[in-house]
Amino acid sequence: MEEARIDEVVGEFVTLKKRGSSLIGNCPFHNEKTPSFNVSVSRGIYKCFGCGKAGNSVTFLMESQQMTYVEALKYLAKKYNIEIVEEYRSEEQKKEEDEKQSLTESILIANAYGQRFFTDYLLHNEKGAVGLSYFKERGFSTQTIEKFQLGFAPESGTEFTETALKAGYQLDILKKAGLTSPKEGSKYDFFRNRVMFPVHNLVGKVIAFGGRIMVKDEKSPKYVNTGESEVYVKSKILYGIYQAKGDIRKQDECLLVEGYTDVISLVQAGIDNVVASSGTALTTDQIRLIKRFTHNVTILYDGDAAGIKAALRGTDMVLEEGLNVRIVILPDQEDPDSYVRRVGATAFTEFIKENKKDLILFKTDLYATEAKSDPVKKADMIRDIVQSISRIPDMIQRSVYIQQCAHSMQMSEQILVAEVNKMRNTRAKEKTKEDVAPHVEIEDLAASAQVHQEQLLASTHNPEPIERDIVRALIEYGTWEVPVDGGEPETATQFIFDTLEGILFESKYKYAYDYIRSEFDAGRIHPETFYTQHSDVEISRLAIDLVTASAQDQLSPGWWEKYEVIVPDKKALYIQDIISSTMRMKQMKNLEMLYQIEERMRTAESAEQMDQLIQHYKLLTEQKKEFAKATGIVVYKRK
Ligand code: GTP
Ligand code: MN
Repeated sequence: MEEARIDEVVGEFVTLKKRGSSLIGNCPFHNEKTPSFNVSVSRGIYKCFGCGKAGNSVTFLMESQQMTYVEALKYLAKKYNIEIVEEYRSEEQKKEEDEKQSLTESILIANAYGQRFFTDYLLHNEKGAVGLSYFKERGFSTQTIEKFQLGFAPESGTEFTETALKAGYQLDILKKAGLTSPKEGSKYDFFRNRVMFPVHNLVGKVIAFGGRIMVKDEKSPKYVNTGESEVYVKSKILYGIYQAKGDIRKQDECLLVEGYTDVISLVQAGIDNVVASSGTALTTDQIRLIKRFTHNVTILYDGDAAGIKAALRGTDMVLEEGLNVRIVILPDQEDPDSYVRRVGATAFTEFIKENKKDLILFKTDLYATEAKSDPVKKADMIRDIVQSISRIPDMIQRSVYIQQCAHSMQMSEQILVAEVNKMRNTRAKEKTKEDVAPHVEIEDLAASAQVHQEQLLASTHNPEPIERDIVRALIEYGTWEVPVDGGEPETATQFIFDTLEGILFESKYKYAYDYIRSEFDAGRIHPETFYTQHSDVEISRLAIDLVTASAQDQLSPGWWEKYEVIVPDKKALYIQDIISSTMRMKQMKNLEMLYQIEERMRTAESAEQMDQLIQHYKLLTEQKKEFAKATGIVVYKRK
């Protein structure tokens, strides 16, 4: 929202003082005594040089006030007296969306009613007293019951539905919400004689319920849960996320437990950054939900969890999302709920701190012990660990793990590296079925030895930093001019897209790159503020991160001098930046191709094919030398 003035918006929540050309205050995102929270009015953004948080008016409201995007926009619209114009939708679309919208809303309203009914029943109806004593037995305080809006569903089996109908709620909505049994003609309550745990979405609306039986009964399941509906998709939500999100962000860590009662007990003990997967395997959507608040996940497993190894199976996915996963096994016979009640929050937190083990190291150690007693299994176990390692997007992290694993499994590091690369390649190939280069194969082994190191680097390549530099250049200097040999200067955007024609981005910067490209193709080149204030939060967030990070970076001086290029003007530094990052990009692509060709050379089926490959290989090697010269970087030096 361009009308919003960052200093006015932030100023309502943070005391700002003028310092130089910007404003400064105490950061609302972390505790500090000396202010390092900077606000730039001209750029419309803030950046904390203490904790690194950065954003614009909209993201400030979202992050500091836990507003949703729409809430933030509405807030600003109100503050600045702006009307929010809805984007165009056809009549048909409108009708369909409105219907869907109103069904969703009706379900949410019914759920909210259900929650109030159940909580009220628990706290104020004498027939709910059994539920209350159950919760008290479990040690839940009234405050906790209120915080999680716990409740009780009547025993009679019709009392809720009858009351709701009397209050004017429609039967079909009650059924769609899952509060009333869905059977034709039935008016029975779905939840009967159970203590109730409402499940909240990110903004605190009740989207489902879990109902727990109070006494053990072989014939009934311990928990009954709302079925999936318009508003409840189990795989996309984590129990407790609404209550925990602020603390997860503050502590930069998310504790993951199994059940409702584990979350509640921990929160009651003062450990607030906790959510539950509700007894099922984690899904990618749930991981992405966590990723919005932190990159650190600590999974707590029960001490008596039958199959720790089975539980670990789902965790590779978490690695793939680039999260740091740590594992804690609780003492025998304990779950988080029982353990925190027994030892208290301080000892619990201490235990987590002392016992949390990085997932991969955990696996390696676990297997190392087992492999000793069963050497036959060793190969399988190594493969399993290697599989996990190969999922980690970050190359440096991967290589650290490989070293560790090699050490504890007493394996050669090289073999592990080769294995990891193989798995990554297989997956990469599966992803992009269409081939990049023609099919060819190996020439002579001497050359191959020399290329070996490069192979490693190329195959475990990490395009992110380079892609980042390029997107940053596009955002920061997109409209600036770059001189062209013997011609009119052109924009940096033009130069970059021309230079990188045909290259596809792969990292998280792909989205922004493709967007800038599509704008460019439509004849539009924008200044920095267009991106930092963009309504697509993914774009604005990225742009802000990039431009504020670059303010801290120093372009390394001396580059031009070293290569005897005369620098006419210091401003030329941005030109250097553009040229060097586009070059590095091409260089990396060149390496990838070389590696692919090598692979093919190894499996070439005909002399003809081989010949082709060799030609291609030579060409790429030539290019490689050129690039190395141009960028002055020795690419493959390891150690
Ligand atoms: P206790 O530790 O025995 O007091 O039980 P609890 O209420 O803590 O639940 P438990 O540890 O047995 O289960 C952990 C989580 O698994 C629960 O919070 C539920 O999400 C889920 N769960 C357990 N039993 C059932 C069940 O019968 N059906 C369903 N759908 N989910 C269950
Ligand atoms: Mn339990």
